[in-house]
Amino acid sequence: MIRTDADQNYTMRRYYQWHAAIYDATRWTFLFGRKTIFDHLPRENVQLLVEVGCGTGQNLLYAARQYKDWRLIGIDVSRDMLTRACKATATFSRRVQLFEQSYSADGPPLPEAPDLILFSYSLTMFNPGWEAAIDRAWRDLKPGGHIAAVDFHRTMHPAFRWWMKRNHVRMDAHLLPVLEARFQPRWQLIQPAWGGLWQYFMFVGQKV
Ligand SMILES: C[S@@+](CC[C@H](N)C(=O)[O-])C[C@H]1O[C@@H](n2cnc3c(N)ncnc32)[C@H](O)[C@@H]1O
Repeated sequence: MIRTDADQNYTMRRYYQWHAAIYDATRWTFLFGRKTIFDHLPRENVQLLVEVGCGTGQNLLYAARQYKDWRLIGIDVSRDMLTRACKATATFSRRVQLFEQSYSADGPPLPEAPDLILFSYSLTMFNPGWEAAIDRAWRDLKPGGHIAAVDFHRTMHPAFRWWMKRNHVRMDAHLLPVLEARFQPRWQLIQPAWGGLWQYFMFVGQKV
């Protein structure tokens, strides 16, 4: 069966219709590296960060607290997740904008070119569409801008891979080689999680 971007968007909306309510209470137990990657982002010349697949807005909230002069845009296809992001970032609403849209090759353009694009545990759920999203990030960024990605990398355990696939996550070590080829790597690390049940990666690269 051929899956389209529209199928992927529908799947995400339906999945997060139920998971949005328990997302923040549960995901801290396995979405590792989300704070660590901020320590490796460029500080100079950043005015606008776009998070693609911002979910409940926890990364945007963290960035708004840490970087008082950054403007932040969150994009997500799930209204249920964005409703939570809106509440989470309400204190910073002058600096944070949220858009309900899909990030795909032919999706709506960003209001302006960002200095930094963050994908945090979103790209492994873009099935199909992850390559197009990485390409689009390259086009959307300002020259010299940076991409940051933190996500699942691989698992050697077929049962766990199957379980993650059921939850719409692809875990085939497929993202890192494409990120490395498209962007000039500036920092990256692969880390084990849960005693080696899976690995996750963090990557910061530059559009040169
Ligand atoms: C696992 S959550 C990650 C949320 C947040 N970035 C975090 O680190 O907690 C993945 C998010 O990506 C969003 N997403 C999936 N496909 C998308 C697409 N094509 N365009 C925009 N957002 C998408 C989902 O709706 C979901 O909110």
